Amino acid sequence: MAKTEKIKYVCRECGAIHDKWHGKCKECSSWDTLEEQVEFVASGATKKPVAGSLNNALKLSDFDVSKLHRERFISDIPEFDRVMGGGIVKGSVALISGEPGIGKSTLLLQICQALSHLKVLYVSGEESAMQIKMRAQRLGVNSENLFILCENELEKIEANVNSIAPDLLIVDSIQTVSSSLIPSSSGSITQVRDCSGVLINLTKKGGFATVLVGHVNKDGAIAGPKLLEHMVDVVLYFEGDRSDSCRVIRAIKNRYGSTNEIGLFEMCDKGLVEVPDPSKRLLEDSPQNVPGSCPVCLMEGTRPIIAEVQALAAKSPFQAPKRSSSGVDFNRMNMLLAVLEKRLGLRFFDKDVYLNVIGGLRLDETAADMGIAAALISCVKDIPLSGSVIAIGEIGLSGECRTVGSIDLRINEAVRLGFDVIIIPYRTRLKYEPEGVKLIRVKSVFELLTALADFK
Ligand code: TYD
Ligand code: MG
Repeated sequence: MAKTEKIKYVCRECGAIHDKWHGKCKECSSWDTLEEQVEFVASGATKKPVAGSLNNALKLSDFDVSKLHRERFISDIPEFDRVMGGGIVKGSVALISGEPGIGKSTLLLQICQALSHLKVLYVSGEESAMQIKMRAQRLGVNSENLFILCENELEKIEANVNSIAPDLLIVDSIQTVSSSLIPSSSGSITQVRDCSGVLINLTKKGGFATVLVGHVNKDGAIAGPKLLEHMVDVVLYFEGDRSDSCRVIRAIKNRYGSTNEIGLFEMCDKGLVEVPDPSKRLLEDSPQNVPGSCPVCLMEGTRPIIAEVQALAAKSPFQAPKRSSSGVDFNRMNMLLAVLEKRLGLRFFDKDVYLNVIGGLRLDETAADMGIAAALISCVKDIPLSGSVIAIGEIGLSGECRTVGSIDLRINEAVRLGFDVIIIPYRTRLKYEPEGVKLIRVKSVFELLTALADFK
């Protein structure tokens, strides 16, 4: 059948398809990201009836998923297994991404060792076999079942997978894999998408599991088509501040588990070490008797984690004061500043305000509101909270303090870590009153301010 050529323009950032070239992608507004892609379309193709029985659909009750879900590879690195929803599911494809040098390759090599009872094929398109060997020696990786392949070509990777028949395939990274059969340059959006498609099909057919490493672009999103995130079963982000040894692995998507879970690691000279007591680690270096910081308690999945939020407000030399937040949603910060300004008369409009959460954690929960507000109040009123006070609760636009879920778990964690004073919303219902701590119930930000003033 005759084939005609059709040219399309695909955005490297978001994967949107355009008929014409534009300087700016109409979907994601990125500049100079459209790439030409040639597609061959069969002309004169007509719809043919499908031969054979059409009745391929099965009843939902006929599927036995219990068996599939039981087939997980448990790595004995509990922090990793937790974010995977209890281990890597056989037949699944996971994508792990993060900034260069954050520790993706290190973590995966350690996982190879933790799964040494399984046959693992580690494909690297970035490092030489010698480099991998040296890193493996440093990490104490000596699994007899670990196969290393330094290769970029998709067809050769496929051939190796077919001959070795691994239980787990690791591809570090998907951006380095290319196929000569795809008419597009190596690392391009088409190559990444099509090579991922082939590897995903291979995984599903072969019944093994695959972990792909993905690069991130300058904004921190996974480089390549957004489509890649839709194609895989699990998407993990490996985050952290490179100046700090703390690393957080977070599930963004998980078809086999919760996306609320995080895993905490610390990078040391022998690779990544799990942090079994995250709250303790995150509070370790808390400054004593310094105003502007307050601990908050987050629920990461089923686990409460106490992290410290720091605030700094200083008179601005600029007409439009600077606002900066790291780990706190920017809009939430502005809302809390507006509430404190309006309801308590605190002056922020002429101050630069900085918020920071220690350890690279993100405060996505509204339960952190009272802690953030307490840190801001502590800063402007010069009240050091000395690491003995914790505030848990949500703040509404009228300045009211609202109760939050899992409060008993959060309070237990605060008690375990030795906090003396716990500030909670007035209406909070507790299953039992904790012993040995002072509970302060507050109705509004005004009462929060009054409670904090006692610490001066
Ligand atoms: P790497 O796993 O290569 O990062 P990625 O694959 O995400 O690019 O991690 C490299 C960094 O980790 C490097 O800066 C050195 C540091 N590192 C340690 O601190 N200790 C170790 O044992 C190893 C192997 C790496
Ligand atoms: Mg790497």
